[in-house]
This record gives sequence, C-alpha cells and structure tokens, in this order.
Amino acid sequence: MSERLFFALWPDAAAVRALSAWAGQAHALCGGRVMLPDDLHLTMAFLGEVEKPRIPELQALLCNAQWSSGPLCIDRYGYFHGPRIVWAGPSSTAHWLQDLHLWLWRQLEPAGFRPDDDFRPHLSLLRRAQIRNLADLPRPAPVCWVPDDFRLIASRPGSNGSSYRTLARAPRPANS
Ligand code: 2AM
Repeated sequence: MSERLFFALWPDAAAVRALSAWAGQAHALCGGRVMLPDDLHLTMAFLGEVEKPRIPELQALLCNAQWSSGPLCIDRYGYFHGPRIVWAGPSSTAHWLQDLHLWLWRQLEPAGFRPDDDFRPHLSLLRRAQIRNLADLPRPAPVCWVPDDFRLIASRPGSNGSSYRTLARAPRPANS
C-alpha cells in the first residue's frame, strides 16, 4: 500500500485571501477549476507514490527540521502547458527558498528519492485552464509573507481534483 506524498509550504490566512483574489481574476480570463483556498501551497518536493511504512521516516525528517524561512513575494502569473495550470509565483527565487529546497533534497536523495529536473516555485491557482495571454490581466499587488508552515501531505486523486491530508507539520523554529 502506498500514498502519493509531497512536502510543501502553506500560505498564511492573509496570503490565502490575496492569492484567492489572484485566482478569481485569472479564472475570469482562463476558466478552469479554481484551487480551493485551503489547498493553496508551494511544493518543495514531490515524492510520488511512497510505501506507507516509510511515512514515519518522512514525518521525522520534517519534525526534526531546523528550517529557516524568509520573505516570499508572489508577483507574477505563469502557465504550465501540459497540465494547463495557471499559477502564481515569485519572479526570482529567494536564497532562503533555494537553500530550503537544497536542504530538503539533501535529506531525501540518500533515502532514494529523486528530485525533478528544476525547481520552479509556484502555487497552482487554476487547473484545466485555457491558454490566454496572461499579460492581459492587470497584475495584482504582490503577495508577500514569511512562510511559517511546512507540511508533509498525502494527496488522493478524485473526480473533482485531489484531496490533501496533512501527515506532519513543522512550524518555523522561533529563532529563524
Ligand atoms: P502542480 O500544482 O504544479 O500540479 C501535489 O500534486 C503537488 O505536487 C502539486 O503542487 C504539484 O504541482 C506537485 N508536483 C510536482 N511534480 C509533480 C508530478 N510529477 N506529479 C504530480 N504533482 C507534482
């Protein structure tokens, strides 16, 4: 038995509200399925199907993480053609985010997990959206926050999109 797992940063309530407005505006142009506000996230590592007995090892990795965070500013829309996703992301990847990604994969690779080719930080807003010129959208005010919620998630595909279950959660250490 396996679960489809990923690690992700979860936005705080104010960022979720602002990103939902980004999603609503993009939806008016591109249609598609809007991600539920509670499901908005920035994936740091997608593991795919993992045998259930390995989950405690991954929960421990997260719970023992001395991770540090910094400001994250979401300031642009983007589009992934294959899965027809409209996303929001940063124009450039902050050093701390790159470092956190590197740190995570330094733990995961010796455990046999393989990273994707490149790290493109984003939060998916719409799925199965039409290709439109995203430059036609007024660019909303950037959404900036300091992520303090890092999670291990199990994803279960369903007819209305995937449902997510939190398996472990690491608040940002107080001194970071
Ligand atoms: P996406 O939002 O761009 O689809 C759970 O599926 C999370 O892992 C999503 O944020 C998804 O990104 C991300 N992810 C990264 N690589 C993936 C892959 N190969 N298959 C499914 N999801 C992937």
